[in-house]
Amino acid sequence: MTNLPERRTFAIISHPDAGKTTLTEKLLLVGGAIHLAGEVKARGANRRARSDWMKIEQQRGISVTSSVMTFERTEADGTIITFNLLDTPGHEDFSEDTYRTLTAVDSAVMVIDAARGIEAQTRKLFEVCRLRNVPIITFVNKVDREGRAPFELLDEVADALALDVCPMSWPVGMGGTFEGIYDLAYNRLYQPADDATGAFEGKVVPVAGLDDPALEGVLSPEGAALLREEAELAQAGYAAFDMAAYRAGDLTPVYFGSALKDFGVAELIDALSGFAPGPRAQPAEPRDVSPEESQVAGFIFKVQANMNPQHRDRVAFMRLCAGRFKRGMKLAQIGTGKTIAVHSPLLFLARDRELADEAWPGDIIGIPNHGTLRVGDTLTEGEVLRFTGLPNFAPEILRRIRLADPTKTKQLRNALNDMAEEGIMQVFHPSIGSQWIVGVVGQLQLDVLISRLQAEYKVDAGFEASPWDTARWVTADDPKALDEFVGQHRAAMAEDRDGAPVFMAKDAWELNYITGRFPALRFAATKDRR
Ligand code: G4P
Repeated sequence: MTNLPERRTFAIISHPDAGKTTLTEKLLLVGGAIHLAGEVKARGANRRARSDWMKIEQQRGISVTSSVMTFERTEADGTIITFNLLDTPGHEDFSEDTYRTLTAVDSAVMVIDAARGIEAQTRKLFEVCRLRNVPIITFVNKVDREGRAPFELLDEVADALALDVCPMSWPVGMGGTFEGIYDLAYNRLYQPADDATGAFEGKVVPVAGLDDPALEGVLSPEGAALLREEAELAQAGYAAFDMAAYRAGDLTPVYFGSALKDFGVAELIDALSGFAPGPRAQPAEPRDVSPEESQVAGFIFKVQANMNPQHRDRVAFMRLCAGRFKRGMKLAQIGTGKTIAVHSPLLFLARDRELADEAWPGDIIGIPNHGTLRVGDTLTEGEVLRFTGLPNFAPEILRRIRLADPTKTKQLRNALNDMAEEGIMQVFHPSIGSQWIVGVVGQLQLDVLISRLQAEYKVDAGFEASPWDTARWVTADDPKALDEFVGQHRAAMAEDRDGAPVFMAKDAWELNYITGRFPALRFAATKDRR
């Protein structure tokens, strides 16, 4: 199959409050997917009226799980590019889904607050991107406010993330002294409107270069001098843009802008369309799968349990990796012998889910089901294949689970197993003691769990603190070394659902200490789902 439709399947990674929601709205506005800003983060009554999510979601007025937004743009040569933006829930709703969504994208946009630089959650999400060498475009946001010096921010990205940085644009001042953004690639200046909003309204001044005296006409003398000095230094001091290095995940082009004022958003879309890769071959056993193949193949990276707890409805999100998917197709769920007829697939647009008639590699399809589909499943037209690299991530919150009614032990075990298989949490059996330990990466998952135990399994349970903070899967080439370690650390050992040994650490310090003391063992923060 040749001439696949153009796809850019990407996610935004950022720390809460850096401006991801604002940027998403602007991307969708520019892309024409929605017409009113404010649609993305629908809050309170508005959201409740529109969807029938789980109770917990209604109570909190936030989205428990990530969604997919699609917009299109027609390029100058007539090519239509479809952008699939996969949301990575980031506030209280941070979960393993947030990480796993990054295994379904071909590139990412990293949004950084100009006053704060690289923050904890950005770094965590970046590390997940790095596992698969996902190429990253950086957007330094909020230059309309006082921020740190651009050089300082660029150096921080380079040092903290061990990436080459290449500034593609440069802010003329920040906050009170902000006069615009200079596009270093195309030598043009974007300036705020004269009115009080300071918004960008298409005021673009083309210049011949940084030396062009026309700059004096549109910038203050100080602004023009500062821009020349800084931009020249930056061009000399940082790497030039190198497509291969970007695509390999070694270099990040950096754009400065303001999502709120719409500065740099169009340039960001230009960068996504011009540089960001479309679908690539995906790792699978026994062979990799290329998007050009004619047979449909995809994997489930997320299962959303919601809608109606009574009916246990689910939507499984499949990333299509190869072939042309058509509504009504029958797909084999590899490893189970089951066949799923996909009669009502969902395509995710900004406001509403729409019935999809067809989809192409890079697209995400929602498949409604009653719990048959699990995170990590491979679906094909029949060939026995298994996509790899869809891991479980080490939990960052560990809790003991406490059952209100001890006669419900069996129901609890089944429920925990179901939910662990679904991929929303992990369950560990400690070597000592009989209480299960539940592991998640975000606090909200715990509430979701309790709520689902009650609604779907009629099990009343609660959580108790556990002495542990994090967990690692322990492996060794020498089984004796592993046995010895497990024997010495029984009180901190557990088994996961597959019986694999897991070491639970009280804190980062202990984890560091133990990893240093046992160099013959591997302490992994991820484990492939089987
Ligand atoms: P998030 O999704 O990453 O958490 O961030 P979000 O877009 O919600 O932005 C967080 C806050 O930062 C919001 O203000 C938003 O208006 C502001 N913001 C985003 N981009 C820019 C920018 O380019 N410049 C400036 N000056 N501010 C920006 P808030 O007051 O917390 O929320 P809201 O009441 O405005 O929604």
